[in-house]
Amino acid sequence: MEFFLDTADVDEIREIASWGILDGVTTNPSLIKKSGRDFKTVVAEIAEICNGPISAEVTAMDTDGMLTQARALKAELPENVIIKIPCTPEGLAATKVLTEEGIDTNVTLIFSASQALMAAKAGATYVSPFIGRIDDTGADGMALIAEIMTTWANYDVDTKVLAASIRHPTHVLQCMQLGAHTATMPTKIFKQLITHPLTDKGLDGFMKDWAEVEAAGNA
Ligand code: E4P
Repeated sequence: MEFFLDTADVDEIREIASWGILDGVTTNPSLIKKSGRDFKTVVAEIAEICNGPISAEVTAMDTDGMLTQARALKAELPENVIIKIPCTPEGLAATKVLTEEGIDTNVTLIFSASQALMAAKAGATYVSPFIGRIDDTGADGMALIAEIMTTWANYDVDTKVLAASIRHPTHVLQCMQLGAHTATMPTKIFKQLITHPLTDKGLDGFMKDWAEVEAAGNA
């Protein structure tokens, strides 16, 4: 399973990348706004820190506008930048053309299995179902991941399922159990996945005992 960071904060990306298991990064217009930085500058910097796929989102609403923005991003930014496109009819058309041009895409804002299927038919490299935002409505976001994975199993689909809008570590584990290819998550969840109070307590005990071993000259 691929683990992506969902942030445009380069300090956070550097920290998690130093762990050696960061597979990619997703950004969106809201995360770029939160960074307070220039869009292309920050995406280029992220793409230097992490050599996996870095999603940069188009903001045009029409197909031609999306294609113009996507081609410009591909021309100006590092090779590992991929194009994030909204799941709309115009976005589908743009995805189809970009796929034919050999440009990788991440079709975003997916809230139904039918949207995921349509994006896959257009050749999307990734589809991003938003689990947390579905949970927020009182429905079950994980049920959508299960539905998509069941559908995928019936056909020879190359498109990867990128679980997005993840709110807690259990979301990540459940996605893995369902066979989702990728999960993108905030830094806080990356950290929650690796920490455990009993690990900290156990390490503390070992270090105290080791200090006594050293003090006794037995190290
Ligand atoms: C995915 O690519 C999106 O950037 C992200 O996961 C959205 O999550 P949110 O619902 O926490 O904004």
